Amino acid sequence: MERVISGIRPTGNLHLGNYFGAVKSFIEMQHQYECMFFIADWHSLTTHPTPENIRQSVKTILAEYLACGIDPEVAPIYIQSDVKDVLELYLYLNMNAYLGELERVTSFKEKARKQPDNVNAGLLTYPTLMAADILMHKADKVPVGKDQEQNMEMARLFARRFNRIYNVEYFKEPESFHFNKTAVKVPGLNGTGKMGKSEGNAIYLCDDEATIRKKVMRAVTDAGPTMLNQEKPEPIANLFSLLELVSTKETYDYFNDQYNNMSIRYGDLKKQLAEDINAFCAPIRERILQFSADDDYLRRVATDGAEKAHARAEKTIKEVRQIIGFK
Ligand code: ADP
Ligand code: TRP
Repeated sequence: MERVISGIRPTGNLHLGNYFGAVKSFIEMQHQYECMFFIADWHSLTTHPTPENIRQSVKTILAEYLACGIDPEVAPIYIQSDVKDVLELYLYLNMNAYLGELERVTSFKEKARKQPDNVNAGLLTYPTLMAADILMHKADKVPVGKDQEQNMEMARLFARRFNRIYNVEYFKEPESFHFNKTAVKVPGLNGTGKMGKSEGNAIYLCDDEATIRKKVMRAVTDAGPTMLNQEKPEPIANLFSLLELVSTKETYDYFNDQYNNMSIRYGDLKKQLAEDINAFCAPIRERILQFSADDDYLRRVATDGAEKAHARAEKTIKEVRQIIGFK
């Protein structure tokens, strides 16, 4: 069975954008591929060198993943910093990664611009650590968003280069993967753009009913359609996109017809949308609370995940040492 690995940095709670854009496809994938997921806590030090409470953030994201439906019996979840093998591979890959190419990576340039006082070597070598995460599992497929494409190209480059330098056919080149082929972009509630943590427009899976209602009722709209069957401007199209994700087809069609015949009342649409988002989030929210309160279970999941990841990684590292010439 093909192997899949993916990681996420523990930098905040999961929102609807993360869910429909990424987590949902992980959940569907776990039954078709040999999946592992990990929480990239070391990676988060590249931008958050003194995390307020890294253990808590890791725990939160772990509980949220489980609450969404990742089954750790099928798809183990581990914490990056629990599986030290990756560090050795990171070191070897770094020895054959060149300053010029690392400096040209767009996300490095962006982050260097954002944090000019902290252009650290970890930031520069973010792609080699990510390549090590992937190559240590000999993953075939890596489900990531479009923004990770360049990091994936680097991973393939490092795999090819390793094979060439040591004259072996050892690492295969991992491919980026979009489970549902067409990537979903979940819009925010402020009229334009996508939902995101840093955008301040996100509905979190752990938001309670009142918070969800408040956020949805505040969503940007306009004065209403002025022509029959008019094309929807972005803020309205965004509300309909959200409706499409969380409501039934009947509800969507009902409001769509109302929009088309100009009888729509945005207040009613928002009320329904808030209700449907809440119906979607409520069971997840409840499970988040349950998992978050069960430290023993979370620890067991992470320990078990780390053991499985280590078993695979150790084998890779031993082989890599031999290839390079270490005994
Ligand atoms: P954020 O943008 O909130 O910081 P991350 O960058 O941590 O989120 O993204 C984690 C995953 O969720 C990535 O795979 C990313 O592509 C996906 N994702 C984030 N926001 C959205 C969105 N609005 N629509 C679709 N996918 C998204
Ligand atoms: N760079 C990824 C992100 O920001 C997180 C990540 C780190 C990752 N290592 C990985 C994703 C390995 C997939 C595979 O979203």
